[in-house]
Parts: sequence; structure tokens; C-alpha cells
Amino acid sequence: MSLVLKSLEDGILTLTIHRPEALNALNRSVIDALSAALEAAQDNDDVRVIVLTGAGEKAFVAGADIKEFADFDQAKGEDLARRGQRDLFDRVEQSRKPVVAAVNGFALGGGLELAMAAHVRIASSNARMGLPEVSLGVIPGYGGTQRLAQIVGKGKAMEMVLTGGMIDAEASLACGLVNQVVDPELLLETAHVMAGKIAKNAPTALAAALDSVLAGYSRDGFDVEIQRFGQCFTTHDFKEGTTAFLEKRKPQFPGS
Ligand code: CAA
Repeated sequence: MSLVLKSLEDGILTLTIHRPEALNALNRSVIDALSAALEAAQDNDDVRVIVLTGAGEKAFVAGADIKEFADFDQAKGEDLARRGQRDLFDRVEQSRKPVVAAVNGFALGGGLELAMAAHVRIASSNARMGLPEVSLGVIPGYGGTQRLAQIVGKGKAMEMVLTGGMIDAEASLACGLVNQVVDPELLLETAHVMAGKIAKNAPTALAAALDSVLAGYSRDGFDVEIQRFGQCFTTHDFKEGTTAFLEKRKPQFPGS
């Protein structure tokens, strides 16, 4: 079955990341499939708004695929972040068609980064969000250090990035990380209502509005993040963090 399911109704294209056995973790194939679907949507006049969600009830996306990058070196780590940002995360944020993320469970690491690249976020009440990368000996590499601070402010972003902890849907709503929280069974319907409200407006004005809002944010930090992400791959902490995840045990960092 395809890694990204597509359905188009009333101008709303729903893209469902479909890799439930790995909690929809983003490996290269998922990134490529999602990127291609987004690209195709840009030139399809029938698409007015895009809704992005994950298959299954447990996870939106549980992050970048840790198994895929566990043996990467610095160059490969840097390339992973750069290509991922360019091919998917920037493409979501820079989409001319507004993107609504329907967050249906865990949105961790690259999963939260993907939701944050979207323009509006609706979460189910069972959603849990966080950037746990430092527990793996690495940092968010898909724009999370930048977009989290842009959305919730520097103080809350620092807390979330540095603790690596998860917050629930209500706490996400309270800090502005998501726009709305609803019962799981109402999530897609609510995302479609939001998408429908957006879709009623002038497409050229929507594209201009997206462009203008985004122009207010600096792009400088994204390159620093890519570089620092790559450097993490040279460390013993990274080896220990990823090995511990794969061995399903707690990592032992110096002093921990
Ligand atoms: N990468 C690869 N596989 C993953 C994954 C990930 N990010 N998250 C979950 N999986 C896999 C698990 O390995 C497991 O596979 P097996 O059945 O083959 O063992 C399957 O999905 C189900 O997961 P769990 O058994 O772990 O489910 P759980 O209910 O016990 O825990 C969870 C759920 C808390 C989300 C846990 O899976 C988890 O902590 N996942 C990793 C979250 C994470 O650290 N994300 C950040 C990734 S790094 C990143 O994203 C870097 C970046 O910015 C570029």
C-alpha cells in the first residue's frame, strides 16, 4: 500500500501518512512520497487546502526514522537534515495552498516538526507532542528549534527542546502550539471544517497572505540547526542515545 494516501473532496486534499507499523516515522520513502504529493497539489487547481494527518489512532508521526539514521556519520546526518528540510518541511511551510495538520496522537521529533511546518494545527485530545531528540543525543533537525520558538516563544521552546519532554493536547493548546483540541472521532471533521472556511477565500489572496506572514521570520537559524544536527552524529552521546532506543532501554549519558 502507498505510504501516503490521498483523497480529494470539495477542494480539500487529505494526505494521510500511512506507515502505522512504525508509528508513521518519517523514513526517506515517506518523505519522498509526501513531498511528491505536496508538489503535485501546487499545480492542481482543484486543490484549495491541504489536510495532513497520520494513519491509525496512536500517532500522527513518531519522528524521523531512528533506525534509518542510527549509523550515520556527520556528513550523512547533515545531509539528512538539509534534504529533509528542503524536500519536505520547507515545502509544507512554503505551500501556496494552506496546510492544516490534523494531529491524531503522538507528534514527536520530526512529527511535531512536520505539524509545525503546517499553517494551522488541530489536535485530538489524546495527542502528545514533544521534541525528544536530546534524549537520543541529537537535536531537532527538521526545523524544530526554529519553528517551535516562533510558535510558542523562546522560553517555552527552550523548556521543550532541553527537557525533551512531551506535553498533552490541553497543554499544547494553552501554549499556542495547536489552534484547537477536539475528541479523536471529531478530528478529521473539524480539520475539514477549518479547511472549508479557508477554502472559501480567494486563492491568490491566501497565497499572498502565507507569503507575507512567513516573510516576518528569519531563515538564518535553520542553517545553524542543520550544521549542529550533523555535529551531533560524531558524539558518543548520539551512539548511546540511538542504541538505547533500538535496544529499548534508557540511555546512560555522562552524569545521568
Ligand atoms: N523511528 C523508527 N521507529 C520508530 C519510531 C521512530 N521515530 N518511533 C516508533 N518506532 C517504532 C518502534 O521501534 C516500534 O517498532 P518495533 O515494533 O519494530 O519494535 C514501533 O514503532 C512501535 O513503537 P513502540 O513499541 O516504541 O511503541 P510505544 O507505545 O511503546 O511507544 C513512543 C510510543 C513513545 C512514540 C515511542 O515509539 C517513541 O519514543 N518513539 C520515538 C520518538 C522519538 O524519539 N522521536 C524523535 C526521532 S529523532 C528525530 O525526529 C530527528 C529529527 O528531528 C530529524
